[in-house]
Amino acid sequence: MLKVFDHPLIRHKLTIMRDKNTSSKDFRQNLNEIASLMVFEITRDFPVTIKQVDTPLCSCKGYELSRDIVIAPILRAGLGLVQGIQDLIPTAKIAHIGMYRDEKTLLPKPYFEKYPSNINDALVLIVDPMLATGGSSIAAIDRVKMQGAKDIRLVCLVGSPEGVEAVTRAHPDVDIYLAALDDHLNEHGYIVPGLGDAGDRIFGTK
Ligand code: PRP
Ligand code: URA
Repeated sequence: MLKVFDHPLIRHKLTIMRDKNTSSKDFRQNLNEIASLMVFEITRDFPVTIKQVDTPLCSCKGYELSRDIVIAPILRAGLGLVQGIQDLIPTAKIAHIGMYRDEKTLLPKPYFEKYPSNINDALVLIVDPMLATGGSSIAAIDRVKMQGAKDIRLVCLVGSPEGVEAVTRAHPDVDIYLAALDDHLNEHGYIVPGLGDAGDRIFGTK
């Protein structure tokens, strides 16, 4: 399933991020804000357990999330989505999936992995701003599945049709959430119109 968020606030903030003149500080801030807006919708069907709560006036029915949640950023750029999600789900554990895309082959190169112990039972949100060829996302999903995770959602900011198709083909059980589905990939594997190199814009590198 592909869900593209068509919301005025997300469109407004994403436009700021696309602008090449936007500073790293504003780029990060808008990324965090979009992550919070997206996770509000992504978690809509998350299961809850009913519990009794004592208000200052009486006892009443309440709710708490019944599944553990793991946020799994694909390093580096995925880190830019973590805070905005954790602000809304402060109990979420954080996995780290280190990989970068080789600039010539466009293939993902894994360099680091660290997972919380509850990942096999948890709802896992793999996060990365960019879904370009889909290679990094597919490899990240492979690795999270190898850890035993069964309930995985992929959360990206901007995706390409090519990337969505590749992930859907490799992992049809993983739902994909995007803030925008862009037009195409260019000859260097960059999303067009896109927003450039997300990692560099988040961290101020080149
Ligand atoms: C970018 C982006 C994704 C990947 C997308 O990361 O954040 O992880 O490329 O491309 P793909 O869909 O074709 O695999 P990059 O490799 O530039 O590393 P970084 O996060 O360290 O900047
Ligand atoms: N990685 C990025 O950061 N941007 C793209 O457009 C493609 C891959």
